[in-house]
Amino acid sequence: VYHTPEEIPTHTIPDCAIAVDVLRATTTMSTALAAGAEAVQVFSNLDELKHVSEQWPSEKRIRAGERGGAAVEGFDFGNSPLGCTSDAVSGRRLFISTTNGTRALKSIESAKTVLAAALVNRSTVVGHLVQNPAQTLWIVGSGWEGSYSLEDTVCAGAILQGLAESLGVSVTALAGNDEAIAAVALYLTWKDDLVGLLRNASHGQRLLRLNCDDDIVYCAQLDTLDVLPIQREPGVLVAQAV
Ligand code: MLT
Repeated sequence: VYHTPEEIPTHTIPDCAIAVDVLRATTTMSTALAAGAEAVQVFSNLDELKHVSEQWPSEKRIRAGERGGAAVEGFDFGNSPLGCTSDAVSGRRLFISTTNGTRALKSIESAKTVLAAALVNRSTVVGHLVQNPAQTLWIVGSGWEGSYSLEDTVCAGAILQGLAESLGVSVTALAGNDEAIAAVALYLTWKDDLVGLLRNASHGQRLLRLNCDDDIVYCAQLDTLDVLPIQREPGVLVAQAV
């Protein structure tokens, strides 16, 4: 488990790397793909997003931009998963750039398998890991501008706890670092009040100031979406049939 993209080892290519941004980018991506989006294409940079998406038919694209939790002017969407209804996204490609989550995905794009996980699709991600064991598995929190974030760590813990239970092994047998053991302890402490944890987290507080409590409640749901966002080409995620 790595708390932020800045922590991941350089010069190592893992078998599988999972980006986590519970509030809200990977929850939004999972929701868009579950609602029938053709793909999600991620960008660190807003200008690059605009440039690349110009080449896509306008009726087949949605452009989502978020900075500091707020929607960026001139984009179709911000980063609320609640906007990703099937009416809005079905058959379309979501071009998205967010403060931290899309940057985390870009930082792991050379892994052999790249997944996006959130609490909502935790059990589907665990099911994939059980079926496709990885020798080296990274779970990378998006954090906030280089610093630790509580909700991404709790999701990493939820994934590891689910994996340990499915494989019938102890968490310590799976954990590659102390962060992994700490993440599971955090999840076990908060698993019955994930909404409470998200509301207490610093980015949860930021979203509450932006009147986004409905998003927090949605993002705190565990195992509600059966969708596996998997990278098909660098920066492009699709839903793999599960
Ligand atoms: C991010 O990438 O930092 C976020 O997903 C922020 C947000 O929109 O809540």
